[in-house]
Amino acid sequence: MDEERMVCECYGIRVKDIKQAMLDGNDTFEKMERCMRLGVLCGACVSDAKKVIAALNENIQ
Ligand code: FES
Repeated sequence: MDEERMVCECYGIRVKDIKQAMLDGNDTFEKMERCMRLGVLCGACVSDAKKVIAALNENIQ
């Protein structure tokens, strides 16, 4: 997975930022909504963000 790929344009959140949030204990989309505002502005990234989180969860565990 390309860690530099932009997932959330509104907040400039890349794959690597989601990965770091997971390593910091924010392992669900809902937690990332709260800690980094992922997906809360336009919502266009929500589906992609959830796929990225699922894929990273498989890789990390
Ligand atoms: S692209 Fe993520 S909230 Fe708009």
